[in-house]
Amino acid sequence: MSSKACARLVVLGTGGTIAGQASSQSDNIGYSAAQVGVAQLLASVPALDQALTGHELVSEQVAQIDSKDMDFAVWRALHQRASHYLAQDEVAGVVITHGTDTLEETAYFLQCTLAPALLQAKPVVLTCAMRPASAVTPDGLCNLLDATTVALSTAARGVSVVCAGTVHAAADVQKVHTYRLDAFDSGDSGPLAYVEEGALRQLRSWPEPSSSSAHAVIGTLPDVDGWPRVEIVMSHAGAGAAVVDALLAQRAVAAPGVLPLRGLVVAGTGNGTVHVALQAALLRAQAAGIVVVRASRCTGGWVLPRSDDVFPDSQGLSAVKARIALMLRLMA
Ligand code: SIN
Repeated sequence: MSSKACARLVVLGTGGTIAGQASSQSDNIGYSAAQVGVAQLLASVPALDQALTGHELVSEQVAQIDSKDMDFAVWRALHQRASHYLAQDEVAGVVITHGTDTLEETAYFLQCTLAPALLQAKPVVLTCAMRPASAVTPDGLCNLLDATTVALSTAARGVSVVCAGTVHAAADVQKVHTYRLDAFDSGDSGPLAYVEEGALRQLRSWPEPSSSSAHAVIGTLPDVDGWPRVEIVMSHAGAGAAVVDALLAQRAVAAPGVLPLRGLVVAGTGNGTVHVALQAALLRAQAAGIVVVRASRCTGGWVLPRSDDVFPDSQGLSAVKARIALMLRLMA
């Protein structure tokens, strides 16, 4: 796979375990995420020089957080900085260092909101680590190197995720393991490619950035305090109406900093089925103007529509991604 002639690779840092540090080299869980700056992280990968041959490296610290604490302000800033760099002729692609915990949400958010015309020509590649930078063998360095290979390849486009030598599409990727280095999976779709010894082995076509993406409808993202509030509830044995009813009751009381609820995603059992008591509450919510979408709490498969469905399904999206899709729909 050949690499691009554009002269610059941009790396945006947001924190995560890839930038994490523990007091002991053998501690892979008792660390603090988001301690090492992105410039320092890049300087710790001498092999990058070879991967970057002929390309200038530019880095920027957009945030420094544990990604469990990801918020809309960081998403908006990332969107703005990625858009800024992708629009520059000399930029070949953008790599984003990120925590693993909400990586799939950020990847999907960017895939939906960055301009398709920019993503058509240049990739945005998110990468991460399951071991902190202080570990005996920190996987983040190799992941960073692999992400560089993808971002500089002529084949890549759109938003993808690189972890443990595997390239996943933003729409498909899910974190599926709490500890293993190979913590991500693309479900039924399978990965896009592998990175092997600095070369990309493509397995399937790169998804085309869609001209009907949220970007086409929303254009510039509004200030985050105007982003619609969408919550996720889960169906389970003994599920009831209490959570949904509390959310509905909260709507009636205006409180500072609490946005009115606009949408609900239910992570249903199996094929998106919902406990009868929870379903009754969701029907009340729907009748009150809340948009309800039904995903599945299963990690594999799609929710297949049935003629007696009372709530629309998530069109193959997991609950966390269905929440983003619904937020963007309501934003539009
Ligand atoms: C995080 O998501 O920021 C911490 C966990 C990780 O990166 O693996």
